[in-house]
Amino acid sequence: MRHAVSVFCAWLELTPLSHQLQTIEWIVPAVQTLHLLAIAALMGATLVLNLRLLGVAGVDVPVERVSRRFTPVLKGALCVLLVTGLVMIAAEPARSLLNFAFQLKMALLATALLLTAVTTRTLRQRPDDWNASPRRRRLAGLSAVVSSGLWVAILCAGRWIAYVRVH
Ligand code: HEM
Repeated sequence: MRHAVSVFCAWLELTPLSHQLQTIEWIVPAVQTLHLLAIAALMGATLVLNLRLLGVAGVDVPVERVSRRFTPVLKGALCVLLVTGLVMIAAEPARSLLNFAFQLKMALLATALLLTAVTTRTLRQRPDDWNASPRRRRLAGLSAVVSSGLWVAILCAGRWIAYVRVH
């Protein structure tokens, strides 16, 4: 598997697209800045929803309305993160695809997306379920803590990419 990824990285690095991204100096820093701005939007949107689920903030607003208001921000930020992430991969394929920190980040991201999808879907289809009993409220609180923990872990793994040596 690692050999196949290495061959793919070597091919991608020689494409005209990757060459452009490597030689036009302002593109990667501009894309990294967009990546960071999208991270801020995503972290803000997930924090607002999770603090509401924990009953810590915004308790005067129904949970499903908070979810409906911030899900588009989350989706928009994820689209920007995906596009900017793919551009950074195209610029330096091996630096990410063969990097343990990047692979860990993608695994954590898949888990966080699954949890977020289940939470927002439940809130949309059965808005009162999360509040139906003390056990349900504890479960909602637990999913909020796990969700925030996952997004912070993804952020740390993203930053760690630059410090992991790829052999
Ligand atoms: C949606 C898919 C995503 C892809 C494909 C992606 C890809 C990447 C890549 C290739 C880098 C550059 C690493 C480097 O060369 O140093 C990066 C950096 C980073 N990513 Fe992502 N990323 C994604 C989503 C996210 C998310 C959801 C977060 C946080 C919640 C995140 C946080 C970071 C951070 C903190 C950095 C370091 C930025 C810097 O120091 O300039 N990324 N990402």
